Amino acid sequence: MSKPALISCQHLSKSYGHSTNASVILRDITLTIEEGCYVALMGPSGSGKSTLLNILGCLDDFDSGSYHLLNYAIEQQSLNLLSQIRCRHIGFIFQDYGLVNEYSVLDNISLPLYLQGIAKTRANAKALVLLKRFTLQDHADKYPLTLSGGQQQRVAICRALISQPKVILADEPTGNLDQQSGQQVLELFDEIHQQGVTLVVATHDTTLATRAQKIFHIEDGKIQTMAPKEMETDV
Ligand SMILES: Nc1ncnc2c1ncn2[C@@H]1O[C@H](COP(=O)(O)OP(=O)(O)O)[C@@H](O)[C@H]1O
Ligand SMILES: [Mg+2]
Repeated sequence: MSKPALISCQHLSKSYGHSTNASVILRDITLTIEEGCYVALMGPSGSGKSTLLNILGCLDDFDSGSYHLLNYAIEQQSLNLLSQIRCRHIGFIFQDYGLVNEYSVLDNISLPLYLQGIAKTRANAKALVLLKRFTLQDHADKYPLTLSGGQQQRVAICRALISQPKVILADEPTGNLDQQSGQQVLELFDEIHQQGVTLVVATHDTTLATRAQKIFHIEDGKIQTMAPKEMETDV
């Protein structure tokens, strides 16, 4: 039996600018992502990968169409509820890690729980479990800029996981990393996927894309679904 859809977009469109000057970025996007699926989002630079990921993460709105996430009709939710959905169900990972440089590693990872009003001792205890899992426990009291890029991205992955989200959205997560650190991130993604978390990753990295179960290729604002096997024959 197929798994239920976690994400379902119907005829979704997005433009920037107004009337005659509007540029259409996403045209009539219809896609479904089942719970637990590992999806790569590919396409040339400027094709709309980040725009789509931001919409899926409820960070940006869209002009027409509908988007259901976990049975919430996203276009009908208040800003307050969207913020709660983001906080509880979605983990974000960015190319530039997006850590708060003035906060320690422990506080960076605990931040999503602080924002949910969870007490510091409880949040820090959860953060420490993740730090140990990713062998970063010796860095808990350090600040992000004293760590390597690979270590910072692993801290960002811990932060994305701390609320036990249903879905992780990652925008070019290996884009700033050397090959070895990028490989470590890919191995962590495999592990996260095996634990049942849904992953949607915008990437140029064909190694990552071939590890995913499904590839969405965006070009000229339209989307095409491919299997990773088709990707292998393309490269
Ligand atoms: N806030 C914005 N205002 C106007 N145009 C934007 C904005 N954000 C993105 N764009 C444009 O939308 C297009 C898609 O951008 P983006 O989603 O970042 O592509 P990708 O992530 O695939 O490189 C680009 O042409 C970009 O210039
Ligand atoms: Mg982008």
